[in-house]
Amino acid sequence: MSLFTPSLSIQHWLGKVSTSKHSTSHHEWSIWERDEKTDCVSSRKRLRARAKRANSCSVLSPSQNMQRLLLRVQEYSRCVMAPVETNRSERHQSKGSLESLLKGHVYLEELPPDIEPIKGLLEKYSGVRAREVDRLIYDIRERLWEIYPFACVGHFRFLSLKFTLDPPYQIALNRLLAPRSKATFLDVGCCVGQVLRQLAYDGVDSSRLYGTDIEPRFLEAGYDLFRDRGRFKATFVIGDMLSQGDSGSNYGGLNRLHGRMNIIHATSFFHLFSWENQILAAQRMVRFLDPSDPDVMIFGRHVGTTTPGDRNSAKAFLHNSASWQELWDEVGKMTGTKWRTEIDDIQEPEMHAEGGSMDETLRRIRFGVFRA
Ligand SMILES: C[S@@+](CC[C@H](N)C(=O)[O-])C[C@H]1O[C@@H](n2cnc3c(N)ncnc32)[C@H](O)[C@@H]1O
Repeated sequence: MSLFTPSLSIQHWLGKVSTSKHSTSHHEWSIWERDEKTDCVSSRKRLRARAKRANSCSVLSPSQNMQRLLLRVQEYSRCVMAPVETNRSERHQSKGSLESLLKGHVYLEELPPDIEPIKGLLEKYSGVRAREVDRLIYDIRERLWEIYPFACVGHFRFLSLKFTLDPPYQIALNRLLAPRSKATFLDVGCCVGQVLRQLAYDGVDSSRLYGTDIEPRFLEAGYDLFRDRGRFKATFVIGDMLSQGDSGSNYGGLNRLHGRMNIIHATSFFHLFSWENQILAAQRMVRFLDPSDPDVMIFGRHVGTTTPGDRNSAKAFLHNSASWQELWDEVGKMTGTKWRTEIDDIQEPEMHAEGGSMDETLRRIRFGVFRA
């Protein structure tokens, strides 16, 4: 299916859309080695590189470091990726190796070539001096990696701005920039909030931007990366998308977003969870949306597959177009709503190299969810 054939009513937000080009260049990888007994990973090369960058001798030994890392992974995974037991796997095939794509088995030592756009954003939006940009990026990446070693952090992909070329982003941007627009935009699992900063740089009134994440330290790192504390008017809410209550903190609970959003973005988010937890997160997203708006849209990118099903090692369910629609049909029934979904493969040959995995069924996909 072609990428995103928005409803007629949504087409006027679309405007001119460019096509994405994807880099296939090779980077220097350090593949994390798995210790079968401890299920722990290690990379000496990474530690050496960090020591060099920090110009310091106080780096922990690999074993100390790995112990700390393992503790963090265990602690974090309780709230972020807690499995819900499922027996759906009979009708869906299961393949390992997703874990290596999702959970930091790969750590890129050098900045990848597609980091250039974010460097521009940091210089122009944040006022970082050109000669300081690389250092700032390395420092923030280290900080995030210490909190949780997501693969998108290890790869610097959390700083890729390729999403700006995706048609749904253009739809969202046009709608947000339309004269007298009051449309709101929420980034779920926003991490450092790079999508929100890009929208602000593209001219969107930041008081109509929202971000939510389970991890407050990612949001704090975002302010330090983009240096916009005080001038960036977006609202951040800390909360667990899997919880059905109003879990929150001094940022306020998730319930305050209910019924107020027109556009939701969620990249590298759904693929973290089991089918049951995706249903919980999707239901919460539906509750966030303005029920009177026919043009609401949920979009993003994540890891998909040609063989939908549970990836047991990662406790995560990956989709093709049929299973993605099935998920949203179920969400529709539970929320009294109806949804039409679209997905589109992103050509990314290096993806299989990233995890050191050769699961050829994996794909990176763009998705859109629209009211039917
Ligand atoms: C793989 S990162 C993707 C970050 C960002 N969307 C990007 O594309 O760069 C997943 C994000 O989802 C957040 N997250 C994970 N589980 C969550 C949950 N249960 N509720 C809310 N956020 C969650 C993580 O803290 C992290 O920032």
